[in-house]
Amino acid sequence: MRVLLMSGLALGLLAGGAAQAQTPSFPSSGAFGHIDDEAAQRGLAVYQGVCASCHSLNQLHYRDLAGIGLDTAQIAGLANAVKLATGQPATPDDVFKAPAAMSMGGAVPPDLSSIVAQRRDGTRYIYRFLTGFAPAPAGVTMLPGHYYNHAYPGGQVAMPPVLRDNAVTYADGTKATQAQEAADVAEFLTWASDPNLTARHVLGIRAGIFFAFLTLVALATKRRIWKQEG
Ligand code: HEC
Repeated sequence: MRVLLMSGLALGLLAGGAAQAQTPSFPSSGAFGHIDDEAAQRGLAVYQGVCASCHSLNQLHYRDLAGIGLDTAQIAGLANAVKLATGQPATPDDVFKAPAAMSMGGAVPPDLSSIVAQRRDGTRYIYRFLTGFAPAPAGVTMLPGHYYNHAYPGGQVAMPPVLRDNAVTYADGTKATQAQEAADVAEFLTWASDPNLTARHVLGIRAGIFFAFLTLVALATKRRIWKQEG
């Protein structure tokens, strides 16, 4: 019995490990994490090319893209290519253009500005969600206009699977597999949710080093002052 239990546990751990191995590790995760600008720029291309037709990013201005390493000319070019409702091209000071309001299967695509912060383990969740579409398991009755997704709570979501290999072409030559696109857009949305993540973590590390140094100075001073004479 005990052997059975133990091997069951080992199998469970293995299965857990395998599931984890499928989710990539993100540079932005953890207390020392930083946004990988190149990944975030590829993620921007995925957002623009695939997600922007349904999802807004209302908290973001084009000029904010300087935060993932775009220069002024690139930002101006990107904004200029967007036509606003007024018929005028967008400027770097405009908010990302929102798609026309819509509903699918009775659900409205949420704004993605802070979706990573709104979901537990947000970056990895977005990755798992985008790669989690699958045929519904036998015995599951699907609601009309819904798709099976094993990362989504309840398993049925009104968003269709939208990522596939080569859904976009990357300017940096990276191979656009479905998994790569999901990871890149997850990194981009992590930045959008927390544009100061890198600066905050760098500040934290510097503060840590400073206080460690201060502690050493305090210890050395204490020893010197309290040194036994004679
Ligand atoms: C054809 C329209 C459409 C496209 C394209 C689309 N989505 Fe969605 N998305 C939706 C709809 C509709 C919902 C709401 C689903 C629901 O509530 O059942 C949704 C929901 C979501 C959610 C919320 C899931 C949750 O936990 O509540 C995320 C995250 C998301 N989409 C990300 C993306 C990303 C990233 C892309 C681009 C790679 C994308 N979507 C492309 C329509 C779309």
